[in-house]
Amino acid sequence: MNRIISPSILAADFNNLGKEILMINQSEADWIHFDVMDGVFVPNISFGLPVIQHVKKIATKPLDVHLMIINPDPFILPFRDSGADILTVHYEVCKHLDRTISAIKKEGMKAGVCLNPHTPVHVLEDIIREVDLVLLMSVNPGFGGQKFIQNTIRKVELLRKLINDKHSNALIEIDGGVNLENGKLLFTAGADVLVAGSSIFDAQNPSEQIHHFKTI
Ligand code: DX5
Ligand code: ZN
Repeated sequence: MNRIISPSILAADFNNLGKEILMINQSEADWIHFDVMDGVFVPNISFGLPVIQHVKKIATKPLDVHLMIINPDPFILPFRDSGADILTVHYEVCKHLDRTISAIKKEGMKAGVCLNPHTPVHVLEDIIREVDLVLLMSVNPGFGGQKFIQNTIRKVELLRKLINDKHSNALIEIDGGVNLENGKLLFTAGADVLVAGSSIFDAQNPSEQIHHFKTI
């Protein structure tokens, strides 16, 4: 079982982003999570390619890019060129998800698919062997600092069963309202990766909080 921690910079201090990235570099965090929002798929706009390009120059950990955008296909190459190592698209916006996942992998990135809280796990049964990662939203996407949706634990258990039954190697990542308490339950339920924004960046000592996540 993996215990991968991917801090979401959405909750970071953007006035000191470089310092925040250096903190992540020196911490026990495994990846860096980027919540890219277009204001169409989700009711918020966050940041885009320039932020990824600049962070790539100083980051020593893989860039885990979560696209909350209505039309991801034209941005596969630009995000690859900007330094994305993992690129995750939302199931809810992909008319040809198998083609999109293949295109991401063809460009040398790990390919992820994300499910909103209302989207059932079984929709992935015919693509689960093709994806490297499944991101389950544990809040409605668009904002950090929201309340964790408890039904996510059950979805993790269902997804873990689907992955095992289909002999898939996909990792299970959880994003939204994750903290040390529900994080422990999520790992027990079968999650591999936890995304945490406010729980890490609002902590007195973010680096220490990351250590706590690694050892829950
Ligand atoms: C929602 C975002 C958030 C963010 C983490 O669209 O994806 O889930 O990454 O936010 P926290 O950890 O602050 O809830
Ligand atoms: Zn995210």
